[in-house]
Amino acid sequence: MIAATAPGKIILFGEHAVVYGRPALAAPIHHLRARATIEETGAPDVTLTAPDLNRTALLSNVNPHNPLAAIVRAVEKHCHCSLSDGYTLSVTSAIPIASGLGSGAAISVAVIRALAVYMGQGEAFTREVVSALAYEVERLHHGTPSGVDNTVIAFEQPVYFVRHDPQPAIELLTPGRPLRLLIGDTGVRSATKDVVGDVRRQWAADSRHFDSIFDACGRIAEAGRSALVAGDLAAVGTLMNDNHDWLVRMTVSSAPLDKLVAAARDGGALGAKLSGAGRGGNMIALVTGETEAAVAERLAAAGAVRIYKSDVG
Ligand code: MEV
Repeated sequence: MIAATAPGKIILFGEHAVVYGRPALAAPIHHLRARATIEETGAPDVTLTAPDLNRTALLSNVNPHNPLAAIVRAVEKHCHCSLSDGYTLSVTSAIPIASGLGSGAAISVAVIRALAVYMGQGEAFTREVVSALAYEVERLHHGTPSGVDNTVIAFEQPVYFVRHDPQPAIELLTPGRPLRLLIGDTGVRSATKDVVGDVRRQWAADSRHFDSIFDACGRIAEAGRSALVAGDLAAVGTLMNDNHDWLVRMTVSSAPLDKLVAAARDGGALGAKLSGAGRGGNMIALVTGETEAAVAERLAAAGAVRIYKSDVG
């Protein structure tokens, strides 16, 4: 059996603005992972299975928009080969779906990695190739993704990302001091595609206003890169707070997200903000060894349905 995995992700700075060409900073969540396995069957057709969701289907029968089928087709197109029979592809994930943690991109990356090994082409599928293929699949699901999710998940390192055509500008970062984050889940599912689409409608209606918000978020991401590399955790926290304020103005926060963000700050977090598309999903809080327990307690009291711990760097 072949198995491959990929991590979830958080966005430290710059979500949404990154779709419009401003920089963003994202980091992997190493211990929350999606996993893909491939078992040879020798049988005609391919069985696609997602045991977590109780779903099984045959590749030949599914709608072309089926997410697993779309990944197989993208890999086939890339390697000019047929991957249409002889195995079972199974996917499981510890990353909650529709919650801003990159579950879709993580599944794509895990499946692409597994298929690469299955074809004996593990080496040829560099991080760049895996990321580019996962981006193709993201485009089918999300319309206008920036590419930051597939990039940070395929590279598995903190990344400063700017969308450019045809290739994004990517800078892999090493934090000057490690960041300890608590990730608080509102338990509210929110589809990235819908939120990104709504921001686009608002931007089209009032582009001057939204461009100025995106500019401010871009400046925060730039300052955040310097603070992160310098290991200035206090500055990182302040910039997270500022970024959250701009996301509120962008209309992508929500009452449960604001409540968790306020609770984390009351508990002594250096900074807190929503992470990902917003309107639900997760928020992140920057904590220290001294404040971690108090912040976790406040998050739970404020309604977080799950709290994860993640270290960056
Ligand atoms: C989603 O993780 C981040 C967004 O900026 C969308 C994107 O970059 O494609 C909201």
